[in-house]
Amino acid sequence: MNVFDNKESLRKSGRKISHDVYTPKMDAEEFRKRGKEMIDFVANYLENIDELKVFPQVEPGYLHKMISADPPIKPEEWDNIMNDVNSVIMPGITHWHHPHFHAYFPAANSYAAMCGDILSGGIGCIGFTWASSPACTELEVVMMDWLAKMLQLPKDFLSESGTGGGVIYNTCSEATFVALLAARNKAIEFRRKENLDEDQYTIMSKLVGYYSDQAHSSVERAGLLSMIKMREVKSIKRKMRGSVLQEMIKEDLENGFYPFYCVATLGTTGSCAFDSLDEIGPICEAHQIWLHVDAAYAGSALICQEYRHLLDGIEYAMSFVFNPHKWMLVNFDCSAVWFKDSRFVVETFTVDPVYLKHKKEGKCPDFRHWHIQLGRRFRSLKIWFVLRLYGVDGIQKYIRNHIKLAHLFEKLMLGDDRFEIVEEVTMGLVCFRLKGNNEINKELYSRIEGDGRIHIVTSEFSDTDTLYLRFAVCYQFATEDHVKYAYGTIIDITNQMDLCSDLFLEK
Ligand SMILES: Cc1ncc(COP(=O)(O)O)c(C=O)c1O
Repeated sequence: MNVFDNKESLRKSGRKISHDVYTPKMDAEEFRKRGKEMIDFVANYLENIDELKVFPQVEPGYLHKMISADPPIKPEEWDNIMNDVNSVIMPGITHWHHPHFHAYFPAANSYAAMCGDILSGGIGCIGFTWASSPACTELEVVMMDWLAKMLQLPKDFLSESGTGGGVIYNTCSEATFVALLAARNKAIEFRRKENLDEDQYTIMSKLVGYYSDQAHSSVERAGLLSMIKMREVKSIKRKMRGSVLQEMIKEDLENGFYPFYCVATLGTTGSCAFDSLDEIGPICEAHQIWLHVDAAYAGSALICQEYRHLLDGIEYAMSFVFNPHKWMLVNFDCSAVWFKDSRFVVETFTVDPVYLKHKKEGKCPDFRHWHIQLGRRFRSLKIWFVLRLYGVDGIQKYIRNHIKLAHLFEKLMLGDDRFEIVEEVTMGLVCFRLKGNNEINKELYSRIEGDGRIHIVTSEFSDTDTLYLRFAVCYQFATEDHVKYAYGTIIDITNQMDLCSDLFLEK
């Protein structure tokens, strides 16, 4: 049925369409009641989450069959909607905040951040310019400075530098893409100064960027979207090394290309390896290459002094991003991005319609010039709530606990000589596999999935065609018992396998 049939038939029959006065279905009083109930619902969900299966038991298309294909014409009762939350939505949820969720990387969350988000939703401002909501812009500037100081980023990245500064994006993928666009414009400007005869399209066709074969797929995608050539640098022991990069740059220069952009990863998605920033940085600087550093997951841990050395070389970077929404108790979305010289981004993105101008321009950043979209949420509120409620100290304790538990899992796995650890455990991720071929590991994974007690994912080292399993410590309140439970589950499942089967003995 076409939902507009009703009005259409009224129109055709010549009868008058009545324009009722709009009356909100939920007034402030009702909101107080239902809002409090919703808080209870969420708190109960999170408090009792361990009673649920971590991974949903539904098939693709399940939800489609349970709700109407057309929007409701008449208002519905709140209680009916909430009933459907229970019967339609919850069965299809993968419980990322379940104690036995060990897949991907953590999705940060905390009650403090959720409260900040509620306030942000309630204020409901769209902070594209300073004037569109001064507190939204100004708190973001201060929060980004706080985070930069926690990471001990070079002063060039702080707002006080005058040219540098931070901004909140939705994702790392966006940051990598925006940094590429800014680097592209910087390179074009530089090349045009060198040779006025070369137009921007010719220059663009000669630009070349670099990223490690371990980098996240968003880097390759940034190249695809911008239609700029990006070359994969072969990693050595999962790290991008200066010598390999240097060789490729030399080769490209000899072939008339213009190296302009390089993405280094601190904490790769596959195995949490760290590119050698201190080797890559000076090479980028020598060739005027924009170095962008992606520390999506591991960035949060670099606020702990014992891991800060992994950021050595950050002074060479033009831009840096990490996701507080992965590992800093701030819920999605919240990607913290810094530019050493924001002018390159601003110049790349500035378009100036009259209706967005305001009298105080130039005194504070107008973040609409810093990214692709215009509208932006008040996301710094949730950072503010988390940092104030936990303090740096509290966040460090939370991160250190996760890393300690990852080492416990590593130790347990190493205690069983059927298993091997395939990558050094640096943060809260352990990459392990059964000794033997990929088939046996596929089988183990498939059984873990089918069993449903814990949720993990696999990955592979494509150069050696090695499939492995990833165990990430994700649960906010993770304890040794949770790690032992996961280990016990894996051992239990392994014990049920016939490891001597011909299939598994084949190379
Ligand atoms: C190193 C790295 N970069 C980028 C991403 C993509 O993150 P986002 O979803 O913020 O784009 C990930 C995701 O896990 C990642 O691990």
